[in-house]
Amino acid sequence: MPANEPFGGIMPVLTRHVILAGAMSCICVPVLADMIDESGMAPWEVCGLCHGLDGVSAMPKFPKLAGQNAAYISEQIHNFRTGLRANDGGQMEAIIGEIDPADIDAIATYFANLPLPKATSQQNDSGARSDPPAVGEHLFAYGKSGVQACADCHTNPSGKTPILFAQHEAYLVKQLADFASGERTIDPSRFSSASGACFRAASRLQRAEITALASFLANSTAPLIGPSAGDQ
Ligand code: HEC
Ligand code: HEC
Repeated sequence: MPANEPFGGIMPVLTRHVILAGAMSCICVPVLADMIDESGMAPWEVCGLCHGLDGVSAMPKFPKLAGQNAAYISEQIHNFRTGLRANDGGQMEAIIGEIDPADIDAIATYFANLPLPKATSQQNDSGARSDPPAVGEHLFAYGKSGVQACADCHTNPSGKTPILFAQHEAYLVKQLADFASGERTIDPSRFSSASGACFRAASRLQRAEITALASFLANSTAPLIGPSAGDQ
């Protein structure tokens, strides 16, 4: 009888719990990332620890990936790999360094093919009252002076433009703040394109406008109609 047989069914479960615990506390992730036993796992399973295997993450700091555009997911993975994009805990960089680049397209396709999340609440992620979504809806549809309407690109986006509907409110607020501060960057060759418009918009929005936009988006389910306004 092989020495490890009694643990055959238990160890993979334990390993996942250790990884999940590490996932929640950012400090140990680089070490734990090396401990991941990926044998027998589909390449997207490790992503599911934070993003949900159904692509609908429970915690607002982890973006929902279900139904997101595959080309956008691939591009963001690439951006984390090259350091164009980072996040405070370094979680994505650590995990992304562990996956085989040959698996990226399959992972992106897996999440893109999951059903889009539905808006689940009329409250923001912290459970507090947020600004009236009507303010956010107006900004989304029409923009304001110096800020292009988000709807031009994000109503029914395709390609490398992300779907924002039913995303976590706190995540959206953080991304807009990161765009405005320069914390989140993109390929400079795309600055003059659609993504550049998004950066400019973020830096011209007041904090209350960002909250209103994020609240409207988090509480809206993606429409299935509208112009296809992908950037490229
Ligand atoms: C330890 C937790 C963790 C794991 C595991 C993880 N991620 Fe993430 N991921 C994050 C965090 C946190 C962010 C948000 C970063 C930010 O705030 O900008 C993120 C962001 C992303 C984004 C950007 C989404 C968007 O809307 O812009 C993509 C794509 C992504 N992750 C894909 C993956 C893939 C693919 C895997 C598996 C190979 C994975 N993640 C594993 C924590 C994780
Ligand atoms: C001209 C097209 C365009 C316009 C207008 C635009 N965006 Fe974007 N937006 C993009 C593109 C392209 C990206 C992906 C950027 C990248 O490559 O990281 C993006 C990314 C984002 C993200 C990050 C999503 C994620 O999953 O991480 C948010 C949030 C966002 N936009 C909000 C807005 C809001 C709010 C407005 C209106 C005030 C707006 N955008 C206007 C094209 C646009």
